[in-house]
Amino acid sequence: MKKILLTGSDGQVGQDLQQTLIPMGEVIATNRQQLDLTSSENIRQVIQEIKPDIIVNSAAYTAVDKAESEPELAFAINGIAPAIIAEEAQKIGAFLVHISTDYVFDGTKNTPYLETDTTHPLGVYGQSKLAGEQGIEKNGDRYVILRTAWVYGTQGKGNFVKTMLRLGKEKEQLGIVSDQVGSPTWSYDIANTITQILTNINLAETREIYHFTNSGVASWYDLAVAVFEEAKNLGFPLKIKEVNPIVTEEYPTPAKRPHYSVLSGKKIAKRLGYNAPYWRDSLKKMLIKFSKN
Ligand SMILES: NC(=O)c1ccc[n+]([C@@H]2O[C@H](COP(=O)([O-])OP(=O)(O)OC[C@H]3O[C@@H](n4cnc5c(N)ncnc54)[C@H](OP(=O)(O)O)[C@@H]3O)[C@@H](O)[C@H]2O)c1
Repeated sequence: MKKILLTGSDGQVGQDLQQTLIPMGEVIATNRQQLDLTSSENIRQVIQEIKPDIIVNSAAYTAVDKAESEPELAFAINGIAPAIIAEEAQKIGAFLVHISTDYVFDGTKNTPYLETDTTHPLGVYGQSKLAGEQGIEKNGDRYVILRTAWVYGTQGKGNFVKTMLRLGKEKEQLGIVSDQVGSPTWSYDIANTITQILTNINLAETREIYHFTNSGVASWYDLAVAVFEEAKNLGFPLKIKEVNPIVTEEYPTPAKRPHYSVLSGKKIAKRLGYNAPYWRDSLKKMLIKFSKN
């Protein structure tokens, strides 16, 4: 029976991983209080004590805008901690799965980003996540870095889908950015894919980066419209009557975001023999699950 150490267990992906990893073995789920990624001593001590076979790092500093004013904290959690985890994993022969982001790219491409494309993050969050990837590549021995994007889930602190449900209850009209496109991705599908990776890939050999998102492309505007359509069908109480597309300049944020954030999922699909679910189908499943919570 494998011992799996999970970090960030209170997060969106972390909560879903606690479910999907169960058939893999004994899951030791740790939240920020039990394993604090700002403390290198804490990271080393927990890994040395538990001696897991597998480490899944789903913890991260994910506040994209706040990161612009807290670069040291973002780099400590997203940049330095993954390198330490990789070093400790290497010492005990543990396999590491780490989650990264589409924001390592600048969004100037207009075809889906491949794992081999040049990285060029636009903001502190993306820079800190890229530093984490590089730390793992330098210190790690056996690992998968899974880049994903536009994550929403039923659990965790918040996300775009939940924000839309809240705003749709309060307002009749909204303007939503339509000139940033990506692939909205349900956290449960990420957790499921990580579990499939751990089940199917030969853990002795891997040192890989993979891209995984739900399939299809949408703007934030498209996603908002889809949330309201699906939520109305499911009977969510909504006041919203009108959603208007706006451009990024009309909704200024501290962090610059890529205009084109689509990741190619071909490599992982080929490796696992598994096609990512279409984003809108997963959105519907998430909303059904959320409505029952
Ligand atoms: N969310 C997105 O749209 C998105 C997009 C692309 C990639 N990703 C990546 O996907 C992964 C999972 O993201 P998510 O959406 O599940 O994020 P999330 O819901 O924000 O969860 C992140 C978790 O990390 C924990 N954490 C923060 N600082 C920590 C620290 N110092 N020590 C230990 N834990 C700490 C948080 O704890 P608290 O609950 O106590 O705050 C939270 O539970 C991350 O690597 C993220 O970079 C996310």
